[in-house]
Amino acid sequence: MDPITLPDRRTPGCPFDPPPELAGLPGPLTRMAFPDGHVGWLVTGHEVARAVLSDPRFSIRSELRHSALPRPNVTPGGPGGAAPGWFAGMDRPDHTRYRRLLTGHFTVHRMRGLEARIAEITAERLDAMASDGPPADLVTAYALPIPSLVICELLGVPYADHAFFQRRTEIVVDVDSPTEQAAGAVRELAGYLHDLVRGKRAEPTADLLGDLLTGTDLTDAELTNIAMLLLVAGHETTANMLALGTYALLRHPEQLDAFRADAALTDSAVEELLRCLSILHLGAPNRAALEDVELAGQLVRAGETVVLALPAVNRDPARFVDPDALRLDRDARQHLAFGFGVHQCLGQQLARIEMRIGFRALFERFPTLRLAVPADEVPMRDSAIVYGVRRLPVAW
Ligand code: HEM
Repeated sequence: MDPITLPDRRTPGCPFDPPPELAGLPGPLTRMAFPDGHVGWLVTGHEVARAVLSDPRFSIRSELRHSALPRPNVTPGGPGGAAPGWFAGMDRPDHTRYRRLLTGHFTVHRMRGLEARIAEITAERLDAMASDGPPADLVTAYALPIPSLVICELLGVPYADHAFFQRRTEIVVDVDSPTEQAAGAVRELAGYLHDLVRGKRAEPTADLLGDLLTGTDLTDAELTNIAMLLLVAGHETTANMLALGTYALLRHPEQLDAFRADAALTDSAVEELLRCLSILHLGAPNRAALEDVELAGQLVRAGETVVLALPAVNRDPARFVDPDALRLDRDARQHLAFGFGVHQCLGQQLARIEMRIGFRALFERFPTLRLAVPADEVPMRDSAIVYGVRRLPVAW
């Protein structure tokens, strides 16, 4: 079989299902041609995905990996490798050093301490929606502000600047943004956060960045890139889960009825939405083999790039029964929507709490919530690394 190209378009009318070509592949690991001519691999099987993500012979360093997207990987370090502090692009032991400084700030216990504040922020957004609408765009009125406000408060970034950092994040994650524009957006974010860090150095504040400034020997450059990673990852992902998850629930009324009727379904519903929707859908996670590795009976050679298709991995029939069905009461906790291994999502407990509170509060406040446009007119983020809806017009 000739190497395939990355399937990146969904079937019109099926916005929640992965590109159909992914389901037709002969095995869990397939030869794939990358846009720069490299021939690497595409992983669609759950077991192989876990094996790659937990094996130190696969590197996350962007200078070693080929981009599965039409443009190169854009990170603060540029083509030369990870910038100081950008630990999402580092292997151990460098990665471990940074991650250890942050793990304690994102534990289940710490995140539970934020629940009351997250509920308050959520209620304020619902009040604003109720007084301004109906209708409303759920993305701008609800899904984007909640995680943005939370991560801003946690880090100590002024929310008043949200239009600035949300716009630049949008450019960075859109694969159709020209490389120079994406790199420019990264530079602007870095400049903004560098000024913020210097201000906090002069006058320490009681927040995560303030704690890192006073409690560690991290440099301003390291702190700037850590702040960028947390700010970008902290709002864009959860925002898309909230909006796309709401759209999915509205399109599955029997599941929504069950969700409304039983508060005990909240936790499993969030895991099932994460599994079924797999918003990190295009070109990532992505790793480079540092040496020859045998995987699923095939030889991945040193230097080859392996890209995971999480939407397929999370619907692997060998792992999940009736994988294409959205069933909020199933045990979906084996999903890899937050990755696996040492780079597994640092913010997953925060994201879970935001979603549990966000979905529950939304449907309690607006029991008659419905789409305000025909379902097939909801614009999707096909070209963004993080999948979702561009707008979600709703009424109640
Ligand atoms: C539903 C929401 C989210 C999803 C689906 C998600 C998904 C992921 C995935 C799949 C990875 C691993 C990437 C890889 O292995 O290549 C990851 C890593 C990461 N995520 Fe999330 N994420 C979410 C929310 C958040 C939030 C709220 C934060 C911030 C507080 C965050 C911060 C991070 C960071 C810092 C990493 C890099 C970890 C490392 O390299 O050690 N994420 N995320």
